[in-house]
Amino acid sequence: MVRTAARLLGEDVIEAVRRPIESARGLPALAYTSEEFFELEQQKYFARTWMGVAYTCDIPDPGDAMPITVAGLPIILVRTHENEIKAFHNVCRHRAAMVLTEPCKKAKQLQCPYPAWAWDLDGRLRAAPYFDGSKSGLEEGFLDRESLGLVSANCAVWHHWIFVNLAGNAPPIEQHMQPLTELMNGADLGATRVAERVDWEFQANWKMSNDNWENYHHMWAHYPIYTKVTDDLDLKTRKPWSVSLQNGAVMSLKRDSKKAPPYPKRESNLPMIPFPDGAERVTAPNLVLPNVEITVVRDNIGSVIIEPLAPDRSVARMAFFFVGDGATDPAYEEGRNLNFDRWLGESRSPAARDGLRNQDMRIWESQQIARRSPAADEVVFSPVWEENVHYFQNQLLDYLTA
Ligand code: FES
Ligand SMILES: [Fe+2]
Repeated sequence: MVRTAARLLGEDVIEAVRRPIESARGLPALAYTSEEFFELEQQKYFARTWMGVAYTCDIPDPGDAMPITVAGLPIILVRTHENEIKAFHNVCRHRAAMVLTEPCKKAKQLQCPYPAWAWDLDGRLRAAPYFDGSKSGLEEGFLDRESLGLVSANCAVWHHWIFVNLAGNAPPIEQHMQPLTELMNGADLGATRVAERVDWEFQANWKMSNDNWENYHHMWAHYPIYTKVTDDLDLKTRKPWSVSLQNGAVMSLKRDSKKAPPYPKRESNLPMIPFPDGAERVTAPNLVLPNVEITVVRDNIGSVIIEPLAPDRSVARMAFFFVGDGATDPAYEEGRNLNFDRWLGESRSPAARDGLRNQDMRIWESQQIARRSPAADEVVFSPVWEENVHYFQNQLLDYLTA
């Protein structure tokens, strides 16, 4: 039977998510636990949008390549001799072994570990050793070399981030990122350089991270990093100090810096992210749907790419970027460390609960366990705080039902 969102969820459940936020219901337990639903997401959402897959610093030099999985399919990311980043299906054109099983550095070619067919970094077939008895395997004309290149996949780079759109039907990456570009008010993201890359696996569905795109949980889940509800809520108006913004693929939480009390300050001598003269400085956590978080604050960018591995398993691929020498100079080490303390905890451990990231992950893992229960089918959104969550779940359904 054909797998559809309506068959898996039921029309009434879809209708309940679609309602105005005040009366809407959130996605039911099955959307977080079922293999079939996960496969539907891979085919109808991940393959048809721009999935964040890696950072440019993951393959810094020509000849660097890495195997990744996008929407359940094996893909190679490679940096060519022209310093371009390309993506290919990680499938040998001989008899379909995976060409690359481990990341490699400064390779001259991509060589299959089976009978060693090899392609240059642009995906052109270079050798099929002894296929026709000759050394290159290409002399007797059995093989049409031109048609046996690695099959390319649609890939794009935006600043530090690498995206793949497997179906090849998404709008250009600039258009996908345009709402974020506008929100950032000219912030010079290009002035930032990577200081740290950390991957943490967690035992929960990838959507937990997007469902978390609100400030409602701060005071409780992130105590003592946040300590007062009034940091996030104006008790007089009963409205959060941040507005939830949604535009296309981008959801953001923009804080009213004129009225809101400042968050507890970190002292820092780190260089600030440059803005054009006269432009208002914007700082905000942003989520580029489906899976890339780009949080811009005064002196750094904290990013996470969530890679969905299974219905109940994901990896957070985190990167931290600072301006110029701020990323590497020992003079700024203390400032960088204070920042890592906040995000990763002083423990720097995925198993702890002392930084924003591992605190969130512990919650998501507890949600994942609770989502096994039939009592987890009826969840609600706060109209005051959780517009982003409602928006995300509706966008997901737009893709799944299209
Ligand atoms: S499958 Fe790759 S060389 Fe045969
Ligand atoms: Fe959080």
